[in-house]
Amino acid sequence: MDKLFITGGAGFIGSAFVSLALAEFPRCQITNFDALTYAGNLDNLEGIGEHRHRFVRGDIADRDAVLAALGTETDALINFAAESHVDRSIASADEFLRTNINGTQVLLDAGRARGVRRFVQVSTDEVMGSLPEDENAFFTEDSPFAPNSPYAASKAAAEHLVRAARHTFGLDTVITRCGNNYGPRQFPEKFLPLMLSNALGDETIPVYGDGLNVRDWIYVEDHCRAILLALLEGRAGETYNIGARNERRNLEVVESVLRALDKPSSLIKFVKDRPGHDRRYAINPSKVETELGWRPRETWESGLQKTIRWYADHPRWIERARNGDYRDYYAQHYGAL
Ligand code: NAD
Ligand code: DAU
Repeated sequence: MDKLFITGGAGFIGSAFVSLALAEFPRCQITNFDALTYAGNLDNLEGIGEHRHRFVRGDIADRDAVLAALGTETDALINFAAESHVDRSIASADEFLRTNINGTQVLLDAGRARGVRRFVQVSTDEVMGSLPEDENAFFTEDSPFAPNSPYAASKAAAEHLVRAARHTFGLDTVITRCGNNYGPRQFPEKFLPLMLSNALGDETIPVYGDGLNVRDWIYVEDHCRAILLALLEGRAGETYNIGARNERRNLEVVESVLRALDKPSSLIKFVKDRPGHDRRYAINPSKVETELGWRPRETWESGLQKTIRWYADHPRWIERARNGDYRDYYAQHYGAL
């Protein structure tokens, strides 16, 4: 893998992937194509030199911009770029349809036009909807599509477009679907960095509904290692679900964070539930484990400790991420807590 075209590489997962790919492939050159929306942050790429990494600011829904940036000798295009926050999609779906659906089609077309050798679509378990609280129910690659939020529906649509490009045009595609990532550099609108940055500042932590929804958490670098394997060894046309067998109720996550920071549980405030809130996600990762030999390296305890340490050590990053736009979003979404 000498030439990679990565979209959304200034975001949380994309930037972790850029660092990992540069470390794992000593010869590889990366073009990192990112629009720098509110979630894109060049601070996330600090320390990555320009020697093997070229950053291009651009919109994946802008065909001319994508074609101008994408060379003819690209080994793989890995699409991380997306509008990624469920609550924002409930407030307004427009950007989700434009970036996640139209943008993916533009990338597929451009990939074919430029002879890209492999197209990897980074997708989500949310395309499969919500599971019952029965511990024996899991998402597999054969679970039916049942997206419940505009975000999930846009990611499901993108998967369909990837599938169609494979079936109709023979493009070499792989889809990966992962659960809730956590780790350094995650934008503080998401639950774990939100609770961490709020707790560090002794601010209230808003918990939706009864706080008993279940998410399947994975450390971001473990997710990126699975994507690397799927990129290198995944079978064309296949989908791989990625999960660390780590289901946690939301309240359990908050309590772990408060305990680790020695903060009181009085910071928790139960607020109005998210409309259509999915109850439980849980991934059966047998396929990625058996076919690609992937295993997570972090346990929940070690990953959480690293994450908490990183946020505690980076107050400046938190402050810059929680800028004026974030404050407006927060005030509008949560009101006075
Ligand atoms: P993020 O919101 O942190 O980053 C998204 C990045 O995409 C940002 O850098 C942003 O600037 C860029 N972007 C947005 N619109 C763009 C456009 N039109 N053109 C170019 N760049 C654009 O997201 P993330 O959490 O890092 O997620 C990355 C991908 O992984 C997404 O596709 C998401 O659906 C998927 N995913 C995320 C999780 C998770 O837990 N965060 C889990 C599974 C899958
Ligand atoms: O499962 C993968 C998905 O995980 C990704 O595809 C999405 O991009 C990513 O945002 C994430 O979606 P969730 O909706 O699960 O993540 P979020 O961090 O928004 O919420 C996690 C849980 O915490 C969920 O049950 C809602 C709850 N929550 C969230 C926020 C922001 C709260 O209780 N309070 C909050 O303020």
